[in-house]
Amino acid sequence: MLLSTISIALWTTCLWAASSASPASTPTTSAATPAFTYNANSFLLHGAPYIIIGGQMDPQRVPPEYWPDRLAKVRAMGLNTIFSYVYWNLMEPQLGTWAGGSGSGSNDIARFMMLAQEAGLHVVLRPGPYICGEREWGGFPAWLSQVTDLKTVRSHDPSFLEKATSYLTRLAADLKDTQVTKGGPLLMVQVENEYGSYGKDHVYTSALRDVLRANYDIPLYTNDGGVDWTLAGGSVPGVLAVVDGDPRGGFNARRLYIKDASMLGPLLDGEYYTLAPDFWGTTQPHNVPNTQQTAAFARDLEYVLRANNSISLYMVHGGTNFGWGNGALWRNNNVSAPFTTSYDYGAPIDESGRTTTLYTQLRKTILGLLPEKERAAVPTPPPNVPHMALPAVTLTPYASLFDTTPTNSSSIASPLTMEALGQAYGLILYEHIYNGTSPLQGVLLPGDRPRDRVLVYVNSRRVGVIDSTYERPATVTVTLKAGDRLQLLVENLGRVDYYSQEATTANMLLDPYKGVRGEVTVGGTTLHGWTSKSHPLEVPPTSEPLKNTTVGNLGPTFYRGTFSVDTPPSTETAYLDTFLSVPAGTKGAVWVNGFHLGRYWVVGPQQSLYLPGTILKVGVNQTNEVVVLELEPENVVAKKIPFTVVGLADRVWANHPDPDAPLRL
Ligand SMILES: *[C@@H]1O[C@H](CO)[C@@H](O)[C@H](O)[C@H]1NC(C)=O
Ligand SMILES: *[C@@H]1O[C@H](CO)[C@@H](O)[C@H](O)[C@H]1NC(C)=O
Ligand SMILES: *[C@@H]1O[C@H](CO)[C@@H](O)[C@H](O)[C@H]1NC(C)=O
Ligand SMILES: *[C@@H]1O[C@H](CO)[C@@H](O)[C@H](O)[C@H]1NC(C)=O
Ligand SMILES: *[C@@H]1O[C@H](CO)[C@@H](O)[C@H](O)[C@H]1NC(C)=O
Ligand SMILES: *[C@@H]1O[C@H](CO)[C@@H](O)[C@H](O)[C@H]1NC(C)=O
Repeated sequence: MLLSTISIALWTTCLWAASSASPASTPTTSAATPAFTYNANSFLLHGAPYIIIGGQMDPQRVPPEYWPDRLAKVRAMGLNTIFSYVYWNLMEPQLGTWAGGSGSGSNDIARFMMLAQEAGLHVVLRPGPYICGEREWGGFPAWLSQVTDLKTVRSHDPSFLEKATSYLTRLAADLKDTQVTKGGPLLMVQVENEYGSYGKDHVYTSALRDVLRANYDIPLYTNDGGVDWTLAGGSVPGVLAVVDGDPRGGFNARRLYIKDASMLGPLLDGEYYTLAPDFWGTTQPHNVPNTQQTAAFARDLEYVLRANNSISLYMVHGGTNFGWGNGALWRNNNVSAPFTTSYDYGAPIDESGRTTTLYTQLRKTILGLLPEKERAAVPTPPPNVPHMALPAVTLTPYASLFDTTPTNSSSIASPLTMEALGQAYGLILYEHIYNGTSPLQGVLLPGDRPRDRVLVYVNSRRVGVIDSTYERPATVTVTLKAGDRLQLLVENLGRVDYYSQEATTANMLLDPYKGVRGEVTVGGTTLHGWTSKSHPLEVPPTSEPLKNTTVGNLGPTFYRGTFSVDTPPSTETAYLDTFLSVPAGTKGAVWVNGFHLGRYWVVGPQQSLYLPGTILKVGVNQTNEVVVLELEPENVVAKKIPFTVVGLADRVWANHPDPDAPLRL
């Protein structure tokens, strides 16, 4: 439908046909009135009918200092419930290491929930273990790929189930007290995520159901596309079956295909799409709703709410894939389509937390549908404060990636993947000194396929780019003579979080490997003897003196600059929010005060990175440091303009040609 850029069967719409839901058993056995439950047609909160008017916002995509602001805006839109995914890879960055809980910033999910309650909202939790969500590997931690005996994710594979159970149980320990049964805001928990569009391993989903039941005393639900096969694969006995996408088709499919009374209950559209995520690419526009789409959203809201059914807007506020957090879609033509750092989504509340025209219009629709008493309780939206403009900050080169100390350096006969080297994200450099007696010339193949974007250098001079986002990546021919240094710098553009099951024979969730997998060959000759250097770059390198001051001969280069910002007009740091742009840049990453804002790429549509004021040091005498890693500094040199970053008060989305685009012959 609206997601014309993504062709996925589960978003297909079906025709409406009326039929009534069958009675369902209530999932709670308590004799007293349960805090939250449901009957055949209604959710019941403390015994009274409750229509969920929800919206999705994931706390881990929003600076925690801004959670109260965003939640206040969600409530002021007329919504009463927040739906949230939790990203396993951020909660358990290493096997057995828990990065959540009290005081953990954006991983403090319990705090997010209590703030939601203070804002007058309830919460629906979507903990995964797999969440899709346009996130790195659908939220899976990269270390899962290295667990001995783990063969299949999203299945009852004992090794996978053990790790998933441990994660869900640990998360529940943080969140148990937020349940509505304990006076908190948490109403329901989702089992897996759109599982039916992936598989039909009911042993697996039943096991997850049982883990959640052992940890929570509130209802569970599944969420699947509104077609027969997704509902068949994804629904779980004893768990409320919820649909997503177009509500007419979805509700009808629920009526047609779910016959097990233990899965029946009120109708909820668990993901109503407003609007869609952005992909990198010269022909990929930024998604922003037009007037027809906005009118359609309003009609669908009326359709759902007038019938006393429930809905959740996906997303009400998208936020940002900070750092290396984005995932990728595996397209039918075997192309990896990475999502942008921005997860603006064209949503009612934009990436920077400002309300949009869509917000105003849907708020009007929702308020018009609320009973008078509830309408009167909806607060006035807080005003949008302006973004800051930041004058150009001149950047100076300070380190070459080639000379930066890696987190792991290994001498290996054949390349090992990023994961085998204990690295999850970022860049990895493979170096080979050619020692053949006669020169070698031919086409370079970086293992079985590019994973994902391979910059190829001979003696530190870039000779080509092999880019997996193209259906036919460039062919790179290299010539090596004895003593030449061949370097492959490989960027993980984001592991696949979703692929169309029908169109691809390979299960791409089982192939998350980055770096080089397999042998590197030149003209069919295998090269042995490599040094791998891991650069996860969670934080940029500290000063490492430039060995060769001729920028452009250095390979990927770190630049830095400093700036100060004046005290904002109030204590609200949102006045310092800006959109950081690298006007002369081709591709790279940006850090401010050590915080990784994400990736930039000239191809667009994203041309600037959201810089939240929360990470800035305020005051004219305070120094803020910006670091830019430019992967192609030779392009900067060729442009003969200063290398700067600029903060934009008004964001611009645009697409530009890719200087590394493969030649069309
Ligand atoms: C929706 O609920 C209200 C309040 O309980 C009721 O008056 C109305 O008839 C219901 N509408 C439908 C279509 O069921
Ligand atoms: C994609 O790859 C699969 C094998 O993994 C192959 O069967 C299929 O033909 C490929 N599709 C295209 C369009 O290249
Ligand atoms: C570094 O790489 C080696 C392989 O050469 C691997 O065995 C080791 O676990 C890695 N170190 C870390 C800290 O991950
Ligand atoms: C060339 O390098 C390979 C792999 O490191 C090594 O096995 C071989 O002995 C080297 N040959 C010479 C002539 O140095
Ligand atoms: C710097 O790089 C250039 C080009 O690769 C090279 O000609 C020059 O010798 C290098 N200078 C030093 C000091 O290494
Ligand atoms: C900034 O530093 C200068 C020089 O030390 C000082 O005169 C001035 O008062 C300081 N300004 C603020 C706002 O602290």
